[in-house]
Amino acid sequence: MSVTWALPFETKIKPKLNNLVDEETYEKIHETTVKDYVRFWEGVASQLYWYKKWDKAIDDSNPPFYKWFVGGELNASYLTVDRHYNSWKRNKVAIIWEGEDGTTKELSYADLYFEVNRVAYMLREKMKLRKGDAIAIYLPMIPELPIFMLAAARLGVVFTVIFSGFSSDALASRINDSEAKVVITADGGYRRGKIIDLKGITDKAVEKSPTVKNVIVVRRTGSQVNMKEGRDYYFDDLIRDIPQTYVEPERMKSEDPLYILYTSGTTGKPKGIVHDTGGYLTLLHGTMNWVFDIRDEDVYWCTADIGWVTGHSYIVFGPLLEGATEVMYEGALDYPQPDRWASIIEKYKVSVLYTSPTAIRSFMKYGEEWVKKHDTSSVRVMHSVGEPINPEAFEWFYKNVGNGEIPFGSTWWMTETGGIMISNLPGYLMIPMKPGSNGMPIPGVEADVVDDNGNEKARGERGYLVLKNPWPGMPLTIYKDPQRYVQVYWSKFPGMFYAGDYAVKDEDGYFWILGRADEVIKVSGHRLGTYELESALIEHPAVAEAAVIGVSDPVKGEVPIAFVILRQGNSPSEELKKEIINTVREKVGPIASVNEVYFVGKLPKTRSGKIMRRVIRAVATNSEVGDVSTLEDEASVEEIREALEEFS
Ligand code: PRX
Repeated sequence: MSVTWALPFETKIKPKLNNLVDEETYEKIHETTVKDYVRFWEGVASQLYWYKKWDKAIDDSNPPFYKWFVGGELNASYLTVDRHYNSWKRNKVAIIWEGEDGTTKELSYADLYFEVNRVAYMLREKMKLRKGDAIAIYLPMIPELPIFMLAAARLGVVFTVIFSGFSSDALASRINDSEAKVVITADGGYRRGKIIDLKGITDKAVEKSPTVKNVIVVRRTGSQVNMKEGRDYYFDDLIRDIPQTYVEPERMKSEDPLYILYTSGTTGKPKGIVHDTGGYLTLLHGTMNWVFDIRDEDVYWCTADIGWVTGHSYIVFGPLLEGATEVMYEGALDYPQPDRWASIIEKYKVSVLYTSPTAIRSFMKYGEEWVKKHDTSSVRVMHSVGEPINPEAFEWFYKNVGNGEIPFGSTWWMTETGGIMISNLPGYLMIPMKPGSNGMPIPGVEADVVDDNGNEKARGERGYLVLKNPWPGMPLTIYKDPQRYVQVYWSKFPGMFYAGDYAVKDEDGYFWILGRADEVIKVSGHRLGTYELESALIEHPAVAEAAVIGVSDPVKGEVPIAFVILRQGNSPSEELKKEIINTVREKVGPIASVNEVYFVGKLPKTRSGKIMRRVIRAVATNSEVGDVSTLEDEASVEEIREALEEFS
């Protein structure tokens, strides 16, 4: 668990908003929205454009495989692009893109419409993709990324985006599981001035991916890359001769899949979370308004990467659904100078900001003088996401960017929920803010904190976070593994969705999400499973066994550390350590950089051979080791302790 700070349950800040209510009032109104949540969500869904209205708001005949707005038909590309093209927003700026190198590009809704149509045409006519086919998108933060996602959605082609900080093994496993026919990548991506060889990584992955017929390469860096004849094509060559065109959007059923997004669990390979179309867009429509209070004149900026769910929901589908103007930034927020982020706010007069605690902590580290160089007074609403926000980070950002007066919150949700579930709601009813808290569940969503038996915990006590009702935006399933979907989320507490987080509900009804209750590690808010890291570690020829845990880090929240047992004939050395760390970077990606490797002779295991990471974590964090009755060999605990001491 990553939270170590004391929670300021009592502190309340009241922003000057005329929709500010006290928490009892909110709870009462909220109760009415969850009492008949299906009707409540129908009201939200009816604000979208449907080719055909649904016959049934929810099909709950086969729980937990709920289907929302059954019989309804719509298209995500139509809703995010055509609808605005056909309105006064045609010439409104949709995306202001800024490259890490300072180049900029503006796309109006008309530009987006033309590009999405041309790309959809190319995918259909040249790549022969049809509704139900899958593609994988492995691109940096360039405008082509949302364009390909929207073009795929237009055709009913299911896409899976792989974060460009992942490497070849991670990429291959996701391509293979989704059975992608085409991979879209770039000749390189910029990160802190360096070029990441995305095409080279793709080539390695595709060698292991028999379903891939073609690779499309977007030119970004101009780097020389290998092009395999008959398989690989440059995007600009494919698109050049395609004129302005119109591709009729597929009429998708509400419950048709829009995308698959892989996310790490505790055991086994990453889970392909499948999101539907109608429920997902309904949740995004609601939350864009309630949480971000999005308005026509706003300039919205979400600093996430589209490779994660935050970018899918709150860079691509949410803001474009609302016809907003948004900033999309390619690179690192503190590159080339620590104030890059603040200069972007000033330059584009960003009014709604969505960022992460890790980013905020890194800004804090550089000092106030960097923010003070810029006018950030345009920001009127801000939120963070991805991990708990410590009250110090909240207060620093609130003072330095929020000027001590605007709404600021920590939105809790996860890949699986599709959109925000618990949050302060400046665009709906705002309750006083508590620094570090997540606020209360959004309308229509019932959350609770329960004990091991699924009974409600007393206020102020730690328990497990659950969602008690189905909600639009919930997963359809885990791709090709419905049993696992049931087992991971719906079996621990029957009838409730188990989020895997520890939480407290305080005396006033505020939720405080404390961190993962399982072995998922949150590095800079990015979700990493121990399994992928450990599999990469044992690919190093000297490593026999490995265990990974997360330990807290002042900026990144958590970082992974590894304990490894070497194969016979190998001895510990600094050089070997470096090699092992590099293997993980190469296989999983730079994002999965292991902070430290400790060599041990034994790992704490149960008698049935399962590694007890809980025990390792307890030793590493100097906390109570707890029940070790199932431990096979107690000496292993001592080994961990000694290894940590020796290398510290
Ligand atoms: O532990 C919670 C944490 O992030 C997890 C979900 O990670 P992911 O699927 O990558 O989605 C992240 C972005 C939506 C959760 O189980 N988490 C996310 N937001 C918060 C949070 N923890 C505390 N406070 C938050 N605001």
